[in-house]
Amino acid sequence: MEEITALAKRRGFIFPSSEIYGGIGGFYDYGPLGAILKRNVRDAWWRENVLNRDDVVPFESSIIMHPLVWKASGHVDVFSDRMVDCRHCKHRFRADHLKSPDQCPNCGMKGTLTEPRDFNLMLKTNIGPMEDSASVAYLRPETAQGIFVNFKNIYQSARRKPPFGIAQIGKSFRNEITPGNFTYRMREFDQMEMEYFVPHDGTDMDTYRQWVDARKAWYSAYGIRADKLRFYELSEDERPHYAKACTDVEYEFPWGWGELESIAHRGTYDLDAHMKLSGKDLTYFDEASKSKYVPILIESSAGLDRTTLVMLVDAFEREKTVDANGKEIERVVLRFHPRIAPVGAAVFSLARNKPDLVERARAIEGDLHADFRTQYDEGNIGQLYRRQDEIGTPYCITVDYETLDDGAVTVRERDSMRQERIAAAALRDYLAERFR
Ligand code: GAP
Repeated sequence: MEEITALAKRRGFIFPSSEIYGGIGGFYDYGPLGAILKRNVRDAWWRENVLNRDDVVPFESSIIMHPLVWKASGHVDVFSDRMVDCRHCKHRFRADHLKSPDQCPNCGMKGTLTEPRDFNLMLKTNIGPMEDSASVAYLRPETAQGIFVNFKNIYQSARRKPPFGIAQIGKSFRNEITPGNFTYRMREFDQMEMEYFVPHDGTDMDTYRQWVDARKAWYSAYGIRADKLRFYELSEDERPHYAKACTDVEYEFPWGWGELESIAHRGTYDLDAHMKLSGKDLTYFDEASKSKYVPILIESSAGLDRTTLVMLVDAFEREKTVDANGKEIERVVLRFHPRIAPVGAAVFSLARNKPDLVERARAIEGDLHADFRTQYDEGNIGQLYRRQDEIGTPYCITVDYETLDDGAVTVRERDSMRQERIAAAALRDYLAERFR
């Protein structure tokens, strides 16, 4: 993990937030490559769960909502972790993360830990000029509640009838006691949530299973190693009392298994809770039968930062291999899926000081840029390949002296390191086929 964290910083994927002031725990910034990587993951989720479906509509709610939203959802009363303090070193820990209940994991002292206490995870702020209890508001700890409180607005305006879904991607905030493991547990993060509403016609469990299968297929389509991913079905004791079924999607990180998504059959719990506290009707009115009902909810809730981290960790490999000349080399390579890779293709001029080559390479790069996220570079070919392997660029295209005569370029594939000569005019089709 240390190697991945160092690479992430060196190559501009992820930086600790406010680093020049010593950083701030649980907050991270995405560098030039990281911002594209994260956007590609977001787009891949959005394409699959919204654009490619005709039964899911997009949505975007505000981050700060009426405080009663969080009362109804249960977050004000029960969204807490048990924490303990060390009286000696003053560090704070989650009680369920302690290896030993009477030894401080930071300073190692025994008998210095306090009794566990509840700690609410919501981040508070104040609205308006007064800082009193009446002005308290919360930064949302999940995006889902914005969907629930707008259920009626959305189905009426979009003219939708269950079964249908509402999806949203956006920031969530949790005042985690012990943020850590890089971007795995943050205090500010993005969620990708899809809430699917189903009628009471006996199809709810089938729909739940279809979503579990759809999410499995999505991870597999982006090449996540099957042996590192598991779909853990929670037992009745493990899931919330209102949930009829729940599957956690887990990845085996270098420090162990961790959840990156949860898929749940939540019954009518969320809409019921908002109807009760607001006194407003959030039922679906079925014109055909002239009857109303609260639809059943199937939720798929994934973390965008965690999924991005999985893409990075899963792609990372340090390998010993031989280069095109048969020479033994060791390289670090990120084996991103072509659609996830921040740079799709790099175009090189074999020499810096040959204007003909530079001009030709720049023209090719310019032509492909908008469609394939290309990058131009020049210089020592071995170093260029090494740099592109480290940022996970699937294809490197080199313009050399022969290109000026025959119009062909060398294309080198990242994983196999195989090289082939291709007519520059055919590059667009070549890449399009591989990025589909
Ligand atoms: N609406 C349901 C919900 O929010 P959750 O299991 O609490 O469920 C869903 O969160 C996903 O959000 C998690 O699987 C994880 O990927 C992401 N997530 C939750 N807390 C996070 C944190 N502190 N840092 C980064 N991602 C987090």
